[in-house]
Amino acid sequence: MAWRWVLAAILAMSSLSLLGSAYNEFTSDTLINNVVQDPITGRLYVGTVNALYQLDQSLHPEAHTSTGPKLDNRQCTPPVTSCEEAVETDNHNKLLLIHPSKDTLIVCGSLYRGICSLRNLSNVEQLLYFSDSKGEKSYVASAEESVSVVGVMSYYFSKDRENFTVFLVAKGYGSHDSTKLISTRILQVHHDWVLFDSIIEASAVQSNPFTLRYLHDFRHVFKDEGFVYFLFSRTLGAQDSGTKNFTFISRMCENDHNYYSYTELQLNCSMGNKYNKVQAAYVALPGEALARNMSSSGRYGPVGAQDKVVFVVFSSDDDSSSSAVCMYPLRAINQRLVEIIGACYSTKGQINKTSAVYSPYSSKSDELCKIENEKGMVTKQKCGAEFLPSPLASRAEFALATDPVFTKKGLMTAVAVAVETEHAVAFLGTTLGE
Ligand SMILES: *[C@@H]1O[C@H](CO)[C@@H](O)[C@H](O)[C@H]1NC(C)=O
Ligand SMILES: *[C@@H]1O[C@H](CO)[C@@H](O)[C@H](O)[C@H]1NC(C)=O
Ligand SMILES: *[C@@H]1O[C@H](CO)[C@@H](O)[C@H](O)[C@H]1NC(C)=O
Ligand SMILES: *[C@@H]1O[C@H](CO)[C@@H](O)[C@H](O)[C@H]1NC(C)=O
Ligand SMILES: *[C@@H]1O[C@H](CO)[C@@H](O)[C@H](O)[C@H]1NC(C)=O
Ligand SMILES: *[C@@H]1O[C@H](CO)[C@@H](O)[C@H](O)[C@H]1NC(C)=O
Repeated sequence: MAWRWVLAAILAMSSLSLLGSAYNEFTSDTLINNVVQDPITGRLYVGTVNALYQLDQSLHPEAHTSTGPKLDNRQCTPPVTSCEEAVETDNHNKLLLIHPSKDTLIVCGSLYRGICSLRNLSNVEQLLYFSDSKGEKSYVASAEESVSVVGVMSYYFSKDRENFTVFLVAKGYGSHDSTKLISTRILQVHHDWVLFDSIIEASAVQSNPFTLRYLHDFRHVFKDEGFVYFLFSRTLGAQDSGTKNFTFISRMCENDHNYYSYTELQLNCSMGNKYNKVQAAYVALPGEALARNMSSSGRYGPVGAQDKVVFVVFSSDDDSSSSAVCMYPLRAINQRLVEIIGACYSTKGQINKTSAVYSPYSSKSDELCKIENEKGMVTKQKCGAEFLPSPLASRAEFALATDPVFTKKGLMTAVAVAVETEHAVAFLGTTLGE
């Protein structure tokens, strides 16, 4: 069964005239899973089921390589050579990341428990690194088609004052995946670490068997001003609340390798929170017109043309026939996060005499708002906030809530925003390929 999917030239919009009748297109034989662009060369890398393509800015293929199907099975532990259950298995691309300073592309697929490989950024046909014999610590992505994986490049400044390039990965749970929710992966061999090893093991966000029932579904990750942000949906985890999903944005300091500063803020879209589940998000400047409109509406606080806005596409668990776009100024997100964290230090987690925070991934409720570092001492870190041993989340009453700016019949699953002549233009995509 071959799917045909078209990647229109809209991706390379900046270099093309949209008014011209001719536009370039690239067609792949199989479903496209991920697309990334190298900001330096403008090249596009397209990860599809069983293939990887390198395109120039006009979408002309420069190189491509087959990534599957290969002998594998979710039950098999890599290397699969002696695994009796192994059958020809499709390789879904789960993650593509560009490592410009080393001229490499990080490619993670669904085969072999989500082990990644490194390829030459100038020629993806050249495999630079792959090893299936390093064991569980090298499992990064997910073996399951439906589990979404997001990642971002970062750095790790070690106690020996060495600065390593790493990437952060966030993912839900496949039944045979690593149980880590968010992990930091190293890109070189160092001491006991192998390539793609998870270098932090202690954090509560990471490996807690009891986080399984939260059904995390990560959809976006981005960095801004020394912080890393993740957008995802999850349940409240409590037995009685069932599997109802809520959307959160979480934030941590990029230099906080133990994730002590990790804090979650609930995002509501519509007053009754009808649109409860994030599908996709995009961070962009709003431009003059939208910034003026948002500011004068009085619902977003002051927004300038240079203040980033998070545009989020939501679906509704209650009504699968419609979806919506909501906007959240990054400044408003940060302000609410500071209020949430601040409540822990000044008023035992209360805001306006109402409990504003809880600690979702801790079994010890007395840990809430206990501030300490590894040595048990109160500490202030460079990043601004004090660090907590178990992550905080805002209670629903203190969610950042806005009304949809756009709703549509059907399921929107993609969003990108660009500013043209002072106006923000949103490109929205649906599951039907509209
Ligand atoms: C990557 O490919 C380019 C062009 O083919 C080549 O010049 C370069 O040496 C390769 N890099 C590595 C690390 O092999
Ligand atoms: C480590 O390198 C990154 C990127 O190269 C840089 O942004 C960061 O400031 C460096 N960290 C330290 C502590 O030098
Ligand atoms: C919540 O989302 C998960 C997938 O992330 C889904 O399996 C589940 O059905 C959703 N819950 C409801 C009540 O729709
Ligand atoms: C913002 O734009 C919308 C859509 O054009 C319009 O309906 C609304 O009145 C504007 N609000 C303000 C405060 O300008
Ligand atoms: C706390 O109450 C004040 C006064 O009613 C209100 O202005 C403020 O927005 C409330 N804070 C939060 C975080 O809800
Ligand atoms: C967010 O939505 C939840 C329901 O899902 C509701 O209980 C809560 O009050 C809402 N928060 C705000 C600030 O509107």
